Amino acid sequence: MKKTAKRTLAVLLALMTFISCFGMSVSAETTEFEPLRINCTMYGDSQTQRGFTWYTAGNCDAVIEYVEAALFDVNFTNGVMKRASVDEFEGYYCHKVVLEGLKPGTTYYYRVGSKREDVWSDIGKFVTDNGDGSFSFIAIADVQASSLENFQQAALVMDQAMAYSPNAEFVVNLGDFVNDCRNEEWNWYGEAFEKANTNLTLVPVAGNHEGNITNKFNIGWFNSMFNLLPGEGPTNGVNGTYYSYDYGNAHFCVVNSNDMYPMSQAQRNWIINDLTETDAHWKFLLLHRAVYSAGKNINKPDTLAMRETIIDIVDQTGVDVVLSGHDHMYFRTKQVAGDAVCEDTTYVTEYFNGEEVTFAKEPNGCVYILPSTAGTKRYSVNENAIDPINACADVKLSTSDMGGCFSNIVVENNKLVYKAYVVNDETQEVTQIDSYAIMKDVADGAQDSYLPTDPIGTVDGFLFNFTEYISLIITYITKLIPQLIAGLF
Ligand SMILES: [Fe+2]
Repeated sequence: MKKTAKRTLAVLLALMTFISCFGMSVSAETTEFEPLRINCTMYGDSQTQRGFTWYTAGNCDAVIEYVEAALFDVNFTNGVMKRASVDEFEGYYCHKVVLEGLKPGTTYYYRVGSKREDVWSDIGKFVTDNGDGSFSFIAIADVQASSLENFQQAALVMDQAMAYSPNAEFVVNLGDFVNDCRNEEWNWYGEAFEKANTNLTLVPVAGNHEGNITNKFNIGWFNSMFNLLPGEGPTNGVNGTYYSYDYGNAHFCVVNSNDMYPMSQAQRNWIINDLTETDAHWKFLLLHRAVYSAGKNINKPDTLAMRETIIDIVDQTGVDVVLSGHDHMYFRTKQVAGDAVCEDTTYVTEYFNGEEVTFAKEPNGCVYILPSTAGTKRYSVNENAIDPINACADVKLSTSDMGGCFSNIVVENNKLVYKAYVVNDETQEVTQIDSYAIMKDVADGAQDSYLPTDPIGTVDGFLFNFTEYISLIITYITKLIPQLIAGLF
């Protein structure tokens, strides 16, 4: 009897151990091969291509299944399967794939995962550009969170951005996705922003928190997190990427402002070539470090370097709108050229989509926008921004006590309407804080530009621009040092 009891207990224990191990094994495998940090990015031709990235904790095969919305069913019976790459990065497995030959102006559904393990993501969607002059997009900046709670707070802002911009076809994230580039942070970002990153095409801009090799050991993170087609040049790939794309009647040039001090001649030449050779009606420049702002970073040497470089290029190439981040406050300039307000700007008020809108009509210069942070780290207004920044401001404010921000831009042929919003931290109530609009019938047209983007061109440019470095140091000493001394008293 005693022996029988012992045997029964042993069998029970063995059974429990087996069930327990089996259960853990299933759970562990599900977690290990579950797609994380999924995103769909603009890649080359916005009408026919998209890039995809996701991660898994375990090493497994990786595929994407996709299908046109008109043929969709939950099992992707009519879908196409394409294999993705598998590369180890910082202890995880990074998977990338590019879809090509897509139909313009078409909604697609997709899922990513492991066919071998039969583990799949939720179903996402993206829409391809139809090439006409009518589209809209969302812009956010500087989530820069370091806790799941703060990422989730920023995701509430993104939820409202999507609700207020139901026709948006892509979202521009102006950089500083995370704070320290830890796996944990990217997992939190991926979790909190999965809805946005799998329902809109993402246009990521490299921020200093995911690419500044001078301050952090986060080399390669930006390019590992996002699948992008870099512009030609020797400095792509280490601390971020610069690239461009056309959307509708607009051209978007995406700068890597980690590539400095000041910006490398290769990238500078590539930007000039890129913005000169396009015949798009509208030209947008997207970069992380704002060159017009009144936050705490505006007087720092890296920002002064950006000002020297970017303002010159914008004026030379006829950029209409610059969108930036980095300084965690709201700032929009008037029409600006040559670092001064275009006093000759005229305005006209018309109905646009059922509301009265005042447009700057055929304006000279460019509008620089810093749409404040979508996150919870917010800066106050710095009244000591170097001249003539404050004189160029149309709207500047801190959103510290208000909430996270988003903007949307609607382009309809010769009209561009921009609106900025703040989302209350507690109630998620949305309040419009700014708007601006431009009407423009005459575009610049394309010109040939063959500035060198190879390493030799970079060295030549470095030597040629030596005077700029000297000028930068003098500016820094004469502007910032007196402010620092004044701040002591
Ligand atoms: Fe930043």
